[in-house]
Amino acid sequence: MSVRRLAAEQPASFALTPENLAWAEKTVLKFPEGKQASAVIQILWRVQEQEGWVSEPAIRFVADFLGMPYIRVLEVATFYTMFLLAPVGKKAHIQVCGTTPCMVRGAGDIISACKKRIHPEPFHVSENGDLSWEEVECLGACVNAPMLQIAPDTYEDLTVESFNKLVDDIEAGRPLKPGPQVDRFNSMPLGGQRVLTSPELYDGSMIGKGAGLQAAVEAIAAREAAEVAKAAEEKAKAEAEAASVKAGEAVPAGDPAPAKEPVAPAVKVQAEADKDKVPNQVDQSKPASDPAVRPDKGTEQVAQSGKKE
Ligand code: FES
Repeated sequence: MSVRRLAAEQPASFALTPENLAWAEKTVLKFPEGKQASAVIQILWRVQEQEGWVSEPAIRFVADFLGMPYIRVLEVATFYTMFLLAPVGKKAHIQVCGTTPCMVRGAGDIISACKKRIHPEPFHVSENGDLSWEEVECLGACVNAPMLQIAPDTYEDLTVESFNKLVDDIEAGRPLKPGPQVDRFNSMPLGGQRVLTSPELYDGSMIGKGAGLQAAVEAIAAREAAEVAKAAEEKAKAEAEAASVKAGEAVPAGDPAPAKEPVAPAVKVQAEADKDKVPNQVDQSKPASDPAVRPDKGTEQVAQSGKKE
């Protein structure tokens, strides 16, 4: 735990800017008469946003503004590590969590990197005045340990490499990416969501069906069975098609039918000429034995008549 003392060197005085003063006067009005002291944390935070840290004259200013004893505001400012009691880096003050879960996951390496890149001692600004650091207690993101805070954001799942990249980005004025510094969203597993992935949980199909555990199990089992049946049906269809193509029984879908061979012009002319030679039209008004209709029949008839005679 950091020792919470006021800085040895303090400015002579403090005043809120006109805009911040107007904001503070409006904020106090949100509280009932006699309860203005409840605004102390909000106003101290605005002081820190304005100056970068909370000085002793600023603590007196806030106490006078809210009608509180100085010691009461001093107690609040020195209790919460969110309030910085000494000047810090112009670009960032890095608060590294040093509580057990973060330590187990490598916070010691991050603290060593702070000592190397910023300053060997906490609450000392770097040579160029851009950065400072301190070790703080649990900041409530243990699930993504190790982590650090640069108010108001947190940077999680750190390694020495990602910490150094973060510091490079701050120095260069590049935008930072708060949250996990690895491939995960918030505190989800690495690589993405692995639980509560069934669409039935979100598509409304269980609404009004007493969506308890049993209903969820049945709905998921029904969907999975339908998916398996559909896959089996598609597989069987594909196998049947492949077998019929192999046996030459069917033309695979999408394969165009073979075109008919065109009739050669010479064959066509010959067919026209032969049409007159072969009587293919029978005159129904004449008997079939008429030689004009069936020469062969007529001859046969005559021959048969001769035999009888
Ligand atoms: S132990 Fe580090 S965030 Fe909780």
